[in-house]
Amino acid sequence: METLVALCKRRGFIFQSSEIYGGINGFFDYGPLGAELKKNIRDCWWNDMVRRRDDVVGIETSIIMHPKVWEASGHVAGFTDPLVDCRVSKQRYRADQLFFAQVVVDGKGVGYVSALESGDTAGELTAAAESYKRKKAIQGKLEPLQLRDMTEALPDEIALIPSPATGEPGSLTAPRSFNMMFQTNVGAMTDASSVAYLRPETAQGMFADFKNVVDTGRVKLPFGIAQIGKSFRNEITPRNFIFRSREFEQMEMEYFIHEDADWAACHRQWINWCKDWLLSIGLPESHLSEYNHPKEKLAFYSRGTTDIMFKYPFGVQELWGIAARGDYDLRQHEKHSGVPQAIFDEATKKKFVPHVIEPAVGVDRIFLALLCAGYAEEEVRDDKGNVEKRTVLRFSPRIAPVKVAVLPLLKNKPELVARAEALYGKLKRKYAVFYDESGAIGRRYRRQDEIGTPWCVTIDFETVEKDGTVTLRERDSMQQRRISEDELFALLEEKLF
Ligand code: GAP
Repeated sequence: METLVALCKRRGFIFQSSEIYGGINGFFDYGPLGAELKKNIRDCWWNDMVRRRDDVVGIETSIIMHPKVWEASGHVAGFTDPLVDCRVSKQRYRADQLFFAQVVVDGKGVGYVSALESGDTAGELTAAAESYKRKKAIQGKLEPLQLRDMTEALPDEIALIPSPATGEPGSLTAPRSFNMMFQTNVGAMTDASSVAYLRPETAQGMFADFKNVVDTGRVKLPFGIAQIGKSFRNEITPRNFIFRSREFEQMEMEYFIHEDADWAACHRQWINWCKDWLLSIGLPESHLSEYNHPKEKLAFYSRGTTDIMFKYPFGVQELWGIAARGDYDLRQHEKHSGVPQAIFDEATKKKFVPHVIEPAVGVDRIFLALLCAGYAEEEVRDDKGNVEKRTVLRFSPRIAPVKVAVLPLLKNKPELVARAEALYGKLKRKYAVFYDESGAIGRRYRRQDEIGTPWCVTIDFETVEKDGTVTLRERDSMQQRRISEDELFALLEEKLF
């Protein structure tokens, strides 16, 4: 992760927000390459999810909505995470990410150890327990640890569990609920009547506008409403770079189905669609898995939720949640707004409130997954046969921030430069292209490898003196071949969709 974070800063993918003021935890800026990459993720999703489907329409709703939306959705009362404070260090932890275990030696409890959730929480706790036993000079056999998180701690245990900040027990509080919505005020008054919230998800925009879309959009069940936009959550512990931040971007789609439809089959179809889409933007199948939320942990209205998980360097974590939410959301809005949400079914001549399947994913989490999966360090041979290190981001052409780099072989040959500039001008009307004439050609290739550019084209003497062909150099194979301009445009047309 450290290597990736450093690369992101060095090459202008991601910066800490407000860095010149010391940064602000949980907020990030996307630099020139990051903004391009992010736009490509959004565009691919929008094209595949909205434009190329006949049954999904796209909308864009406001970030601040009527506060009653969030009462109806249940966010005002229940969008909380369990919070634990350390009274000494003033650190705050999410109770479900703070793990502990009793240290038991020869059947007798002798103390407690704690650790924050990581890729190897169990290993860390075991190491802590062994070290505890050594420090206290306790003889005997350490028994296997029973891991629990702080939401499962008994009242008597809380004072005995050490704080991860100080290593000492006695300073942790019992977990309490913390609402993650960012609150603001609308208008000149700052009293209870002006309270509003930055949306914590984009989904409610689709539910609140459901009737508007039905009445104006010529849509017929089953159909989906999709949107991409910023969401805000006052996360207790933003962490793992852009994986969990306080301002992030979501791509969500609400797929409305008949109340009698086979929701499980539809749910499965959307899980498959999401997985295929992730593969289409270059994520390797080996890093993807599915996690079915156990029935007893689902919200009462939910029929089933499956997460597509991704193997990040810090552990296997949720990338995309696909939930079958029944008719809960529309019914809640009907109840709170007084506006009926039922639609008329021509086939049965009956009115009913549709049910919904919701695939919800974060742009930033996809961004991070692409970086993690794409990053590679390799040993290669240069022109003289010497071994050198090459850093490469193996982005799929669809999402690579720069599609083609145009490189005149020599910058002091006006005929090469003129020809390269002409090609660059033509390419950039359609694609994100980069022009680079400085440095040895090998060095220029390496710079493009490091930002994931799939192709470099070099304009050399053969281009200007012979047949106009250019050298196409492929990032992953590093192979070179001659290609005409027409073939180049045909290649790009085929690969970039
Ligand atoms: N409408 C349902 C919903 O918002 P969620 O599981 O809370 O469900 C959906 O969020 C997706 O949004 C997650 O799978 C994740 O990709 C992304 N996401 C959620 N919280 C995030 C955060 N704090 N930072 C970055 N991405 C986040």
